[in-house]
Amino acid sequence: MMELKNDHLPIHLTNLAQRYGSIYRLKCGTTTMVVLNTSEVIREALVKKWSDFAGRPISYTGNIVSGGGCNISLGDYTEKWRAQRRLVHSSLQRCCKKSLHDVIERQALHLLKVLMGYKGHAVDLSEDFTVAASNVITTLAFGIEYDKSSSELQELHRCLNEIVALWGSSWISALDSFPLLRKLPNPVFARLLKEVVRRDKIITRLLNNYKSQDEKNQDVITGSLLQGLDNQNTGDKLLTDIHVHMATVDLLIGGTETSAAWLDWMVAFLLHRPEVQERVYEELCTVLEGRYPKYSDRHRLPVLCSLISEVLRLRPVAPLAVPHRAIRDSSIAGYFIPKNTVIIPNLFGAHHDPEVWPDPYSFKPERFLKEGGGSRGSSTRDLIPFGGGARLCLGESVAKMELFLFSAYLLRDFQLLLPESETSLPDLRGVASVVLKIKSYKVVAPHAPPDSMSPSGL
Ligand code: HEM
Repeated sequence: MMELKNDHLPIHLTNLAQRYGSIYRLKCGTTTMVVLNTSEVIREALVKKWSDFAGRPISYTGNIVSGGGCNISLGDYTEKWRAQRRLVHSSLQRCCKKSLHDVIERQALHLLKVLMGYKGHAVDLSEDFTVAASNVITTLAFGIEYDKSSSELQELHRCLNEIVALWGSSWISALDSFPLLRKLPNPVFARLLKEVVRRDKIITRLLNNYKSQDEKNQDVITGSLLQGLDNQNTGDKLLTDIHVHMATVDLLIGGTETSAAWLDWMVAFLLHRPEVQERVYEELCTVLEGRYPKYSDRHRLPVLCSLISEVLRLRPVAPLAVPHRAIRDSSIAGYFIPKNTVIIPNLFGAHHDPEVWPDPYSFKPERFLKEGGGSRGSSTRDLIPFGGGARLCLGESVAKMELFLFSAYLLRDFQLLLPESETSLPDLRGVASVVLKIKSYKVVAPHAPPDSMSPSGL
């Protein structure tokens, strides 16, 4: 029996792997969990045996934040869940095909404009990254941007953030592991309940606004989802409004803090190794010859891609993914895993496995480049920041395009420097909850486009 330290659970679980190996069991209150710590065992469970491990643990607090398990990320693997995931996947694909590139480009240009406004003063960019990522997802979901249209989206955003933070706190997770605690007053839990009510009011209003429009825009995700509900066969109407409501919450939560946290990490790592920033900048200048990149340019920008991979490796922003549940008796790495065991894919641990990644704790984007630069190196197979199998991150393609375009635009036009007033570089340890975030830090970003031109379209 050991105490589970909660200040940085991914690091703690990774350290335990050094003592207990790539797969071990933990008991937390009434729950037994199996922690997977290498990409090999994670792939075995999530990809090879996906149908054994596609479930989610059903928890008291999970039910409260997910409308009784009616969302994708926390919903269990049922026929309804599969229909919901299929519907959201196809709506997302459809809308992304039509407009994702344009939507991200627009937000990337807007981000540049905001940075220009700082005129090289020391600032914390985390809020700007959040606005950029949030605007991508709200434009896709509702056709509206949060900083322009209203305080309503700002309120929704604050509220979703609060729910994720509260739900990740030990005050709340203790209620799942120790049911007796539910009988005691718990102010943190009371706040969570209040925020869930607030969230649902705002989402209902936004969906009703959409439904009341005369000219409905089918190219936004919510429109496409509602259309999908209407198109269900009358005989087997599996999905209802609550599934659209909760899927919208999934996309807004999944689509905001993750990409924004990654951008924060990228800037911090570059402050630690400015010569990497130089190499990316030189590559952008040489390959793009002054223009802004398109996503299709990624194959010609290996240095930038190696930076993206290395930051995803060192700081997978969902470090423990989302817990899975064995839906039948199975095995992993030869060990028997009984039905209902909770499985924790420790992506952070897999990305720091010394057997796979030499010098695993060092920031070395060049590990993804072949000797002498050029095309991509060999180890991306072991990179699993988005999970895999039936529960693969639903927003993987949105996220990949965002990380690429946002970082390329940013590094093409701005130099990122440690402010002179700062005595130390950003602390790279991070704060782990559901999302792994960096502690706030400041940066100066003088405008330095390759040909000294202002970005077009600003
Ligand atoms: C699930 C990573 C961005 C939506 C997940 C999971 C991971 C992850 C590890 C859990 C997989 C599992 O349970 O095994 C990331 C990373 C991102 C990112 C690293 C960005 C850097 C996004 C975006 C969206 C999104 C932009 C929405 C547009 C979701 C949803 C799920 C999910 C809905 C639940 C999938 C399910 O349970 O079936 N993500 N994500 N994510 N993500 Fe992402």
